Amino acid sequence: MEKLLITGGTPLKGEVFINGAKNAAVAILPAALLMDGICTINNLPNVSDVKQFCDILELLGVKITWNNEHEIVLDTRNIIRTSELDITTKFRASYYLLGALLGRCGKAQVGLPGGCKLGARPIDLHIKGFEALGAEVEIAQGNITASAKELVGTSIYLDFASVGATINIMLAATLAKGTTIIDNAAKEPHIVDVANFLNTLGADIRGAGTDVIKINGVESLNHTGTYSIVPDQIEAGTFMLAAVASKGDLIIKNCITKHLESVIAKIIEVGGQVDSNGDKLRVWCDKRPSKANIKTLPYPGFPTDLQAQMGVILALANGTSIINESIFESRFQYTEELNKMGAKITSQGKSAVFEGVERLFGSRVYASDLRAGAALILAGIVAEGTTEVFNLEYIDRGYENIEEKFRSVGAKIERISF
Ligand code: UD1
Repeated sequence: MEKLLITGGTPLKGEVFINGAKNAAVAILPAALLMDGICTINNLPNVSDVKQFCDILELLGVKITWNNEHEIVLDTRNIIRTSELDITTKFRASYYLLGALLGRCGKAQVGLPGGCKLGARPIDLHIKGFEALGAEVEIAQGNITASAKELVGTSIYLDFASVGATINIMLAATLAKGTTIIDNAAKEPHIVDVANFLNTLGADIRGAGTDVIKINGVESLNHTGTYSIVPDQIEAGTFMLAAVASKGDLIIKNCITKHLESVIAKIIEVGGQVDSNGDKLRVWCDKRPSKANIKTLPYPGFPTDLQAQMGVILALANGTSIINESIFESRFQYTEELNKMGAKITSQGKSAVFEGVERLFGSRVYASDLRAGAALILAGIVAEGTTEVFNLEYIDRGYENIEEKFRSVGAKIERISF
């Protein structure tokens, strides 16, 4: 067991380098199953979700060679299984195996996907999409099985712009016969990244990043290719918000500033400052943040994955703020932990009221999910005294070397085994 021990009160100053996007990586790894050849993927983040995905791919018969901790070579010529029931239950993104294996082999079976507990997380839209393409899908005994003699392109309207459903349907449609149109598609940067990856391998996907994606099915993908994963906008946003919360001054390197516009707008609204320059951002704040209201929305709106980190700023803001979480049912568990540290937050359902306090105090706090864990680290960095953060397995799913990165910009933070 491990915990983070943080002594708060130091403004963060210096430079942070952003790694590849975890959410893109966990879609691009299974997307590689659609090729029958050897591809190289670089700028992979070194996080536990990526390692788990690689373990699954190996069980399916993919030969994996690590060139270094961020670059992998996948040989997908010999798929020996289309079913993996154990590891797949441990994390959410394993649902992408359905679309990828269905596309490559015409059948797929995974355990019902797990992941962060943010309320009910159905995958009905994924299933509707597969069925529209001609697949049969069955859920029994905690497993999902999908099979199809042939997948045929069609028009699919998503009731909600789901990230997972958009990518999964794109995967299943890449090698389908004819054209598939996904209407009301999600527009998150990693959707564009998966489309770019597949197009690099010879797919014909147009419109990713808009709400209509057109996939002209191709017979097969190229037998080789190299791709570099997009920088992680959530990791970048986490450090941007850490700069503001700690009244610090950070240069965030290797990010795509366009992906962060909603975050930049909110930082300016609470009194922080941002200077963007190519693939770099400087974020600083020298005063107590002001109140602001936030509503999380699909991209390009304010991301739900930065809601908790923003919550730390609003907990300390001058005035009362409201956060409305419109994506997930249950994403305010972290507020109870912040209240242990002296915050005054009342949450009910999908809204929370933040009555700003002047300071937080160190406490023992427990991460309830990946981004909640990041928020607790931010809270520990700004709190008076010592904070212990537990349940690091959530944080390690999606942040590479998080304590080393924070330490390199002045945070007093160490990982302790107990
Ligand atoms: C992805 C991200 C996650 C992010 C989220 C929203 C990955 C691996 N995870 O999750 O970090 O927080 O997007 O940006 O990329 N829904 C349905 N039926 C479906 C699919 C979704 O009702 O078939 C609902 C979900 O329950 C949820 C909402 O739609 O309330 C958003 O889900 P979705 O956009 O699919 O997010 P994920 O793919 O789970």
